[in-house]
Amino acid sequence: MTSHFNDARIAKTHDVARGIRLFDIAPADGVRAHAPGSHIDVEVMVDGRPQHRSFSLVGDAAESGVYRVAVKDRPGGHGGSRYLWSLAADDRLRVSDPKDRFSLSYRAPEVAMVAGGIGITPLYGMVMALARAGQRVHLFYTARTRDEMAFVDDLSAALGDRLHLIATSAGQRLAPAAVIDTLDPEAELYICGPQSLREAFLTHWLGANRPVERFRFETFASSGRLPATAFDVRVANRDLDFTVGRDESLLEALRSHGVHDVLYDCEHGECGLCTIDVVEHSGELDHRDVFYSPRQQAAGNRICACVSRVHEGHLVIDTSRHAVDTGHAD
Ligand code: FES
Repeated sequence: MTSHFNDARIAKTHDVARGIRLFDIAPADGVRAHAPGSHIDVEVMVDGRPQHRSFSLVGDAAESGVYRVAVKDRPGGHGGSRYLWSLAADDRLRVSDPKDRFSLSYRAPEVAMVAGGIGITPLYGMVMALARAGQRVHLFYTARTRDEMAFVDDLSAALGDRLHLIATSAGQRLAPAAVIDTLDPEAELYICGPQSLREAFLTHWLGANRPVERFRFETFASSGRLPATAFDVRVANRDLDFTVGRDESLLEALRSHGVHDVLYDCEHGECGLCTIDVVEHSGELDHRDVFYSPRQQAAGNRICACVSRVHEGHLVIDTSRHAVDTGHAD
């Protein structure tokens, strides 16, 4: 899905935790109302080229009059987060209207939210909305240290003893069983954080015979199992070779090299529209999607071009076959 980008400026920045900065973004033509858990796309400059990155909206733009995003600093990095951290009040940028792909339902008798690190950003607004509506919601928020956790005072005021902070540097661990096993049978779980955290929770959730449709997750393209590295690609059906940079996706690289026959929608590894054939590869395939099941990912013959990549290797692909994949449903 292509985004329409509007002119905007940075109205204010301030730090809300160690290494997490809040950016108030004022679009020239005003903000649009949005649901909790929505995000905006931001046009960022990476290696001198414009790219798009998604950031969850924190709080309610209709109340604050700005789009508010919380961004983690990545020292040494030069991707989208670094670009935003280089901006200050009155700097210009371009942003899309809010999009809602992680919608909140109010029907469950009990809700558990699980945030890993910067994964708190989409969940914050959802937690506050559920608490305001009088719903029974618990938040389990894990980060390396307590001072790397954002919005704790607000969350504590809204949740009281249903806020659980887990600082891993203090030896604390967030065990899926401790969260899931005592939940109401009709409960829902929302999770955003590193892939390993999500996989551990999903495995326990399914093992406890809980329905997959009550397990809701948000993904970030940066949350892979392996660090992102540049890799070489050959598009076999086009006799085309190029390198995918560390800070761009295979889908972005395909488009910038004139390959427009790969469909896409979510650009977050969820819908499966961008899946393509892997003819051969070296290095390890780093499947970052949530569309394919672990068994399908292990087969290694199809990948989601929007998020998945190769770690320290090369990839030969064929973009000519437009299969309809069924992902987790198979
Ligand atoms: S565009 Fe949806 S999975 Fe890639």
